[in-house]
Amino acid sequence: MNGQAVPPDDQNHSHAHEGAGHEEPKAFQRDVFGTRLGFILAAVGSAVGLGNMWRFPYATSKSGGAAFVVLYIGMVFLVGIPVMLAEFSVGRGTRLSPIGALRKAGGRGWSPLGWLFVAAGFLILSYYSVIAGWVLRYLVDAIFVGFPTDLASYFGEVTSGIQPIVYHLIFMGLTVAIVMGGIEKGIERASFFMMPTLFLTVVGLAIWAATLDGAGAGYAFYLHTDFAAILDPKVLADAAAQAFFSLSLGMGAMLTFSSYLSKHENLPRESSIISFADFGVAFLAGLVVFPVVFALGLQDEVTNTSSAIGALFISIPGAFIKMGAVGRVVGALFFTVLFVGALTSAISLLEVVTASLIDEFGVARKKAAVGMGVIIALLGILPAESLGSLDAMDGLASGVFLPLGGLALAVLVGWVMKAPLDEVKRGIGPRLSRILPAWLWILRILVPAALAIVLWQTVPEAWQKLVSLFGGG
Ligand code: TRP
Repeated sequence: MNGQAVPPDDQNHSHAHEGAGHEEPKAFQRDVFGTRLGFILAAVGSAVGLGNMWRFPYATSKSGGAAFVVLYIGMVFLVGIPVMLAEFSVGRGTRLSPIGALRKAGGRGWSPLGWLFVAAGFLILSYYSVIAGWVLRYLVDAIFVGFPTDLASYFGEVTSGIQPIVYHLIFMGLTVAIVMGGIEKGIERASFFMMPTLFLTVVGLAIWAATLDGAGAGYAFYLHTDFAAILDPKVLADAAAQAFFSLSLGMGAMLTFSSYLSKHENLPRESSIISFADFGVAFLAGLVVFPVVFALGLQDEVTNTSSAIGALFISIPGAFIKMGAVGRVVGALFFTVLFVGALTSAISLLEVVTASLIDEFGVARKKAAVGMGVIIALLGILPAESLGSLDAMDGLASGVFLPLGGLALAVLVGWVMKAPLDEVKRGIGPRLSRILPAWLWILRILVPAALAIVLWQTVPEAWQKLVSLFGGG
């Protein structure tokens, strides 16, 4: 690869041509993103998903409205962007997927953390795909037959018996098909097509929602302020956990994507762009959800449903039904956005697992993607059949595994790695270079402290869910 001419428009088309010197010879050529934009769209695709459209508005309305939004933005800046940058520096620095990357960056003792990342990917994808399967079922029905009026029993039907398994398997099949195609021809191409569709549709929906009668009341509720909530450690933990899940951090998804990225790109800039885009879509989702719900007077249903699942799958479609023909079109668009978001996120989860198999054991990509896809699909049958186990798996993965992974990563990059700034310094200007030590100190002190607070809240919660699952049958 060395010695090739760098293309003139290298800013945008930074293929795998590296400057001489820092590249190790490889027996086979590693996949790469064809363009910088392709990488950004794929990473944003990973970040934007069910977490944005479904958890974020719900979490905001539950815990303090605008206060939560402010706290969330703070978490994105102080914890999210620094950890994403840490993942990028390890991923692009080593050009390996998590297991090998952590071994190379920290030494042998760190490879178990890589295995934890792969396990988290397994676990998250197995239930994420189940929810995505419900979304697919809703989408198909919204297009072809419209939602039935009794949504509570419709939701019950969609989530029990053979149906959730069938749609979960279809969704896993689509995910595997894209990951089999590789980075440039599979993931990058799919993101190029899907992400702009998603953005335009969400913006369109938000504009339409602004014209509804209840829009003002919806915004007021969404952004009402309860600033006392900021001081509640539970809310703080929720905001940090939400930021981690939404930005796809803590299990090496961003790490793996960046291992396919050119050395010319500016990592701090990319991590900021990706985080802003992710926040933007989450915020826009709230601007769609709340006007819709308030226009139809369904606000009590949303706040009274005990879970976010209910808010998304029962109350919001309920609002669409009341809107008649318009609601049918808007409902189909809304579930299209959810579906596309879920698919581009699922790709990144499967890629972590697949890439690890390729890098660690030399398995061919197609075989690795199909094999892992099948195992995850089987594991998903459990959450497909039991909402309690889905909830417990989510509590364990997003509440415990991700913050733990982020904490370990911050320690690795902040305290263990020998020259943690070297990789990040590539492709950035002298101004930015000078403030990089601040990033390192954030990783050393602030991130571990924040994540310790999160874990202190979430570990007992996750434990409780597991106990009641096994105890309560
Ligand atoms: N970020 C995605 C969402 O908001 C979910 C997701 C994709 C994810 N890849 C991940 C979460 C890796 C944690 C880790 O829906």
